[in-house]
Amino acid sequence: MRKIIELKNITKSFDGEVVLDNISLDIYDNEFITLLGPSGCGKTTTLRIIGGFETPDCGDVIFMGEDIKDVPPYKRNVNTVFQRYALFPHLNVFENVAFSLREKKVPKDEIKRKVTEMLSLVALKGFEKRSVTSLSGGQQQRVAIARALVNQPKVLLLDEPLAALDLKLRKDMQVELKNIQKATGITFVFVTHDQEEALSMSDTVVVMSEGRIQQIGTPVDIYNEPTNAFVADFIGESNILDGVMLEDRKVAFAGHVFDCVDAGFAKREPVDVVVRPEDVDIVPEDKGQLQGVVTSVTFLGVHYEIIVDIKGFKWMIQTTDFCDVDEKIGLYIEPDAIHIMKKSEYSGMFGDYSTYSDEMEEIGEVEIGELAEYEEQEAAPAESETEK
Ligand SMILES: Nc1ncnc2c1ncn2[C@@H]1O[C@H](COP(=O)(O)OP(=O)(O)OP(=O)(O)O)[C@@H](O)[C@H]1O
Ligand SMILES: [Mg+2]
Repeated sequence: MRKIIELKNITKSFDGEVVLDNISLDIYDNEFITLLGPSGCGKTTTLRIIGGFETPDCGDVIFMGEDIKDVPPYKRNVNTVFQRYALFPHLNVFENVAFSLREKKVPKDEIKRKVTEMLSLVALKGFEKRSVTSLSGGQQQRVAIARALVNQPKVLLLDEPLAALDLKLRKDMQVELKNIQKATGITFVFVTHDQEEALSMSDTVVVMSEGRIQQIGTPVDIYNEPTNAFVADFIGESNILDGVMLEDRKVAFAGHVFDCVDAGFAKREPVDVVVRPEDVDIVPEDKGQLQGVVTSVTFLGVHYEIIVDIKGFKWMIQTTDFCDVDEKIGLYIEPDAIHIMKKSEYSGMFGDYSTYSDEMEEIGEVEIGELAEYEEQEAAPAESETEK
């Protein structure tokens, strides 16, 4: 795949406040890439730097191999759909889309051909003569997209284009946008703070926090292998626990030693452990690796969401099996459902799933029962040969 845009070590401050802190990102031809992160993390600023509306303090913006730092927005082969897409209210649908072509003195018949093609792409054929003020939010949004696409940019920047729409319309537009991207082959750089939207639409997701990129990957990678507690918490629901890597493929957390699939950590390295709510099996109490008491059960249609108290840590579990409140259950976690992350500045910020359990801290110290057994075994000479 060909690189279209390279951001290299971009830093940007406003009023002495660092807003982008050494951002590097490659964007490829034909890619649907999404910048995802909480409000204020620097998504729009990144987009504005790509579009040429903002100049980085340092770092390079490379467009198809050329440094474009000094190229003004209108000369970049990039178009932007802003959140407030500002259609021209006095012009009809056709003229809104035709506007930039008229400015460029494109011949009339070519304008007609291009605008008609774009309107059919966004499913607004027959709307040519309608006043834009008479359109629904979703229809206006599609006019804005047609207007941005009619110049055939290499790259389309979309800053939370669906934020103003209600849920149903938003879902429909997600599908349509994805289809438009596929049909045109234009690279889309999409901004959202909605993780579900990012996961469902993107080829690549860039998770940002506080002006820094936390992780770049496919939606599946980001979900299954979050690099740190911030990403694990921001993408989907998770139980995040303090753990200790005992050796390759053995980790202790919640007072139990688990087999896992991760290796390459230092012996006794403290780690963050992520277990997704849908990856925990409920088993009879005596068959569980962990034992706990159900403290709440919520029916959510497809599954139940239950909260299980295990030594003070409230686990969130999604299951299709019914459990009763106060029931004692066992939990079983397969090795590949345990995701190990390095400790980071975000460790401990999200750990406890619930906001209603605050007596967490000491659980992380994993010093209970089974760990002691592990230590005894480890002390035996036969075991120590397997150590590196
Ligand atoms: N022109 C500016 N002058 C001063 N501060 C700015 C300017 N533009 C952005 N900022 C600040 O930079 C930080 C990042 O802003 P940015 O708009 O990039 O965030 P964002 O990730 O797009 O957030 P949101 O999801 O709320 O749109 C914020 O703290 C914002 O207040
Ligand atoms: Mg923004």
